[in-house]
Parts: sequence; C-alpha cells; structure tokens
Amino acid sequence: MGCVSLSADVTHGFQSRTIPHSASLSIRTSRTGDAQDALTHTRDKRSSKPSALAGHGELVFPAEGEIGDAQEFVSEPTVLSPARPFVKWAGGKRQLLPELLDRIPQSFRHYHEPFVGGGALFFALCEQRRLDGKAVRLTDINIELINTYRVVRDRVETLIALLSTFQNDEAFYYHMRALDPSQLDPIQRAARFIYLNKTCFNGLFRENRQGRFNVPFGHYKTAQICAPNDLRSASAALRGVCLEVAGFHDVEASSQPGDFVYCDPPYAPVSRTASFTAYNGCGFGDEDQQKLANLVTQLGERGVSVLLSNSAVPLTYVLYRALHVEEVLARRAINSRGDRRGHVPELLVAAGPLRSELRKRAAAAKPARSEAAAPSVR
Ligand SMILES: C[S@@+](CC[C@H](N)C(=O)[O-])C[C@H]1O[C@@H](n2cnc3c(N)ncnc32)[C@H](O)[C@@H]1O
Repeated sequence: MGCVSLSADVTHGFQSRTIPHSASLSIRTSRTGDAQDALTHTRDKRSSKPSALAGHGELVFPAEGEIGDAQEFVSEPTVLSPARPFVKWAGGKRQLLPELLDRIPQSFRHYHEPFVGGGALFFALCEQRRLDGKAVRLTDINIELINTYRVVRDRVETLIALLSTFQNDEAFYYHMRALDPSQLDPIQRAARFIYLNKTCFNGLFRENRQGRFNVPFGHYKTAQICAPNDLRSASAALRGVCLEVAGFHDVEASSQPGDFVYCDPPYAPVSRTASFTAYNGCGFGDEDQQKLANLVTQLGERGVSVLLSNSAVPLTYVLYRALHVEEVLARRAINSRGDRRGHVPELLVAAGPLRSELRKRAAAAKPARSEAAAPSVR
C-alpha cells in the first residue's frame, strides 16, 4: 500500500514528498495544500457519458455534476501503471533516457526542471524512486502545459471524466481548437489541451505569433484521447510537486547548492529548417542559448549540479566548452521528412559537482568514453 504523504519540510515554497511507486495506491488519501479531488475510480459513473458535442455546431462542456462526482471516495485499490509523460511533446526525451539516467548525480538535495515539457526524465526518476523525499520544482514557459500538469495533479478524476466525453472527430477538433483557453475553467482548459495534443498532427504544440494553437487535425484512425491509468499514475507522481509557469531564469532564484537541475531547452538549430523551436510565438534564438549557457555556468559555480541536453552543433560546443561535454547518439522525433529520423549526435553538458563526478568517471573509463573534442567553428 503506497500511501502518499507530504512531509512538513517546506523549503523555498515547495515540499519534500514521498510518492507511491507504480504498485498499488491507497485510495483514501488525505489532501494537503491545493489538491482537491481524490485519486479514486469513478468508472461506473462514466459509463453513461454525456457527449461534449451537441450536434455539430455547438460545443458544450458537460457541467462537473454531469460527468461524475470526483469528490467521492471509493475504497477499491488501484494498480497504477508506470508513471510516464501524458502528452506527446516535441523534443521529448524518452529516447535519450538511458543516457540521462546514467548521468544523474549520485546524491542531490532537490530537483528542478526549468523546461519540463512532457517531463520524460522527471517521470523516469519518479519510477526509479530517485525523487523520494526530495522537493521537486517543474516549470515551463507554456501556460497551457503547466495548467494541465496542475489539473492532472489536483483534479485527475474530473479531468478523466470530462476527457472521456471527447471524440476523435475533425469537426469536434476544430471547434475545440477555436475555443479561447483563457475563457475556460482550468479543468476544461486542461482537457482541451490534452485532447488537441492527442488528436492534432504529429502531437505538436505550436502557436502562431498571436499565441493561438494552429496545428491541423491529425486524421489518426485511433487516438487515445483519455488514458485513465496513465493520468492517475502521473497524478500520483506529481503529488507535492511545485508547478509554475516561468522562464528558465527562474531556476537561478529557486535552486540552492546541492540541488540538481536538468535543462532541456529547445535545441539550437542543426540547420535553418531542420529544428523545431517554435513551442510558443517567441521561439528560442541564439541569444537565449547564450543566456542559458551563462546561467548554467553560474549555477555550477554556486555548487548546483546541472545536466543539460542540446544539439551537437558548433554553437553549443562553443557555449559549453568550459564545462564537461559528452556526445551521445539519440533518435530525433520531429523532422518533416520521415526518412531523416535516424540517430544523430546530441550533447550532454554537466556543470557544478556533477561536472567533477562525470569527469572522474570519464577519466576512469578511458578510452571507452572520453570527453568530446570541440570541432572547429566555422
Ligand atoms: C525540448 S522541450 C522539453 C522536453 C522535455 N524534456 C520532455 O521530455 O518532454 C523544451 C521546452 O522548453 C519550453 N520553453 C521554451 N522557451 C522557454 C523559456 N524561455 N523558458 C522556459 N521554458 C521554455 C517549451 O515550452 C518546451 O516545453
């Protein structure tokens, strides 16, 4: 029985926690902080689900009462599936996980991810119980994404009930896409976000300069819009986690010596057309890459362990030449040409105590693994 508890150790506005593993979870959980609904099953209630599309003209969100009472407690043990990302995310790090997990500091205080996206490393660390008892702060500049994380953490049953009324249908998709998320309540907003993510072309999140989501319908024969057990597992992993909308600079103030920060920014472009950096209307240019490199260096000097992933291009070799740099092979997920989805070199950079740790390891392992030599910069 893996009970969820939040310890009293409140540091820097976020809390140390213990999280359940993917085994069984006690259903009757006590709520702390802003968490509101129970991690319970309402499966039977949802069998008579209302449709969110009234005819094909008008989109109506069912009221909370119509989609099942998420406040109820059902004392039935739930077996959770392994926690993993609940959205498809451009630049998601599932392919690189073995390399990343191999480079986590031996010990660290609290964990920060300032570019959380789909959170592949966070969920993998939860599964390995490497975040137990640690405070965790996940941030991203994407408002819709962070709202969704919060709803998954705090209102997962209501979210599941609402999502299970949505259909993989083109007209429904464009109605949903046309809605202004700022006019929706947080649960509707999260449901819309997950729905669009699961049914849009390539699972991309892309906004135009006006901040409007503009990806076309994906035309997938089957799309798993609602995966209740995945959402419940993610919800359990997110218990006690601090989730904020923030630019990456926020980690400067929130991290302390001994903490571990994983940075996975939009990658520096491999070519003018190949790389996807347009997660929002603003993009992430060379100046941002430079500012991030300065921040990573400063964090390292303050005794914060930093691991950063980025593309292996001349710019990144130059930006991180003073730190520990290793080249690894990763499968690229986003490329307009399917035949170019091969293995490509990527950079892993370490700063702070982790830099010394990995340097020692690399020296001991020579010649099996050595630091990548910087290529000449054109
Ligand atoms: C490569 S993705 C992260 C992928 C993530 N590691 C995963 O496993 O899914 C980069 C993320 O950075 C976010 N981002 C872009 N610009 C940012 C900024 N200036 N500050 C913070 N986050 C930013 C994007 O919204 C996106 O979620």
